[in-house]
Amino acid sequence: MRFSKTSLVSASLLLGQAAAELPPIVMKGSKFFYENGTQFFMKGVAYQQDSAEAGKSTGSSKYSDPLADVASCKRDVPLLKQLRTNTIRTYAIDPTKDHDECMKLLDDAGIYVISDLSEPSVSVNRDDPKWDVELLKRYTDVVDSLSKYSNVIGFFAGNEVTNNASNTDASAYVKAAVRDTKNHIKATSKRWLGVGYAANDDPDIRESIAHYFNCGNQSEAIDYWGYNIYEWCGKSTFTDSGYDKQVEFFKTYSVPVFFAEYGCNIPDGAEGRIWQETTALYSDDMSDVISGGIVYMYHQEANDYGLVKVKGGTASKLKDFDTLATRMASVSPSSIQMDAYKPTNSPAACPSVNAKWAVTGDRLPPTPNNDLCECMYKSLSCVPSDSLKTTDFGKIFNYVCDQTPKACDGINGNTTSGEYGPFSMCGAKEKLGYILNEYYNLQGKSSGACEFKGQAQVVAASADDGCQARLAQASAAASNTQGGSETSKNIAAPIPMKNLFTIGDLAIGAYVVVAMGVGAGMVLL
Ligand SMILES: *[C@@H]1O[C@H](CO)[C@@H](O)[C@H](O)[C@H]1NC(C)=O
Ligand SMILES: *[C@@H]1O[C@H](CO)[C@@H](O)[C@H](O)[C@H]1NC(C)=O
Ligand SMILES: *[C@@H]1O[C@H](CO)[C@@H](O)[C@H](O)[C@H]1NC(C)=O
Ligand SMILES: *[C@@H]1O[C@H](CO)[C@@H](O)[C@H](O)[C@H]1NC(C)=O
Repeated sequence: MRFSKTSLVSASLLLGQAAAELPPIVMKGSKFFYENGTQFFMKGVAYQQDSAEAGKSTGSSKYSDPLADVASCKRDVPLLKQLRTNTIRTYAIDPTKDHDECMKLLDDAGIYVISDLSEPSVSVNRDDPKWDVELLKRYTDVVDSLSKYSNVIGFFAGNEVTNNASNTDASAYVKAAVRDTKNHIKATSKRWLGVGYAANDDPDIRESIAHYFNCGNQSEAIDYWGYNIYEWCGKSTFTDSGYDKQVEFFKTYSVPVFFAEYGCNIPDGAEGRIWQETTALYSDDMSDVISGGIVYMYHQEANDYGLVKVKGGTASKLKDFDTLATRMASVSPSSIQMDAYKPTNSPAACPSVNAKWAVTGDRLPPTPNNDLCECMYKSLSCVPSDSLKTTDFGKIFNYVCDQTPKACDGINGNTTSGEYGPFSMCGAKEKLGYILNEYYNLQGKSSGACEFKGQAQVVAASADDGCQARLAQASAAASNTQGGSETSKNIAAPIPMKNLFTIGDLAIGAYVVVAMGVGAGMVLL
């Protein structure tokens, strides 16, 4: 058989590539493994300039994709390698950008990636939580852009979204995101990629939230639990730091647990970190329960958590870089082979609703479905007028839902009862159309009921048969789960203004803009 020159070349290129690719990480019980059965412990570094992660304030909604910045990857990957890093965590990547070069550099250096799915302006907002068509698109776009690389372990569906007992409702929407992202991966990828959650460490809710994300139908539960933990500061011990209690708690957890961020900078700032906790993390005290961790963080910035200072394109190591490198060089966690490991932990029971936990484990918010939202919108007789600005949506939401709460049942969600309107997952314009139309109908379509000073207009409803069938199905499903409840929530309840302008709390999608309109008042109505 004769090979042409080109086919020989491409065959060897293919072989070369295949041989160089890192083996995917898999999960069994509460541990990670390489495909060959060797246990995998995460030795991670958080890698994103400008700490653009959702859940942390930076005052800007812009982010730069660390996996698309080839010059920085070339500069930083060798430094990461010196730290024995085998995983980086990225907080916001741009799915429209090309990641091939950085992913190859990382792969060649033996480094895996775990990435958050949101970006600062498209994330589940703890103060006005929802899971909608815009968020689902963002999440699945990120999965689609990264799932082809064998050195991607998986994703985080949220980072510190619920952060205390006042905003536990947001977790229902994050868990819906976990469910839908997992279903998307199952439908589009041949291999396992995980979807987890990265939590802060709040004593009021830490048990409930860990159980909530792990409980129930395992196709809808997290694949791993990431803990952002800053308990061990400076010189401490396994018991003084409270790490012992974490190990005790997670001993019975049924999926892997690791530190998704660690590296307290108290008392001596980033440079003064001595990384005793790193040695503890990979010691026998912890390695049976905690699968390693991710140091926060690579870049030295205003928050003073860096290992490396980047200035004018040049990277220089801080003192804590060498300290960490020395620690990492001497860790050697005890491990188990995949075959020998027989998991015995089972998923937690869902926490019950109480004063500090406002989410039922029974039901999740609906899966965003753009077709259904479009169908619904086409079927309406009263819609927002073409000239209505997004910033003016809020006052109309407020007015209609105050005057006629029933008109808003179909777009509201109640995380304690588990009742979610079938259109609660639609975009702001579709939702506004829905409530305007309900209001119009409830007023017997009287003239003037679809007016709002020219902000709403009567249109000819048009829904084809396929649409009608889908709508009928959705409302039947909703009446099964709505249980005749007469309660209804003001969907556009004002958001505390101070949160609107901090990045971590942002979901500047149309919806926060909606809420901003609320402040402007109901003057016109
Ligand atoms: C399994 O693969 C990992 C990663 O390539 C490697 O470090 C390890 O030595 C391998 N284990 C065995 C038993 O070959
Ligand atoms: C809970 O977190 C929110 C948002 O970060 C904050 O505004 C609020 O003060 C916190 N509440 C408590 C009780 O800590
Ligand atoms: C579990 O969740 C999956 C994914 O959402 C769903 O397809 C399946 O029907 C659920 N199983 C049960 C028993 O509810
Ligand atoms: C949500 O449901 C609970 C339990 O059924 C109910 O007590 C509560 O009033 C509802 N909340 C709203 C805002 O409707």
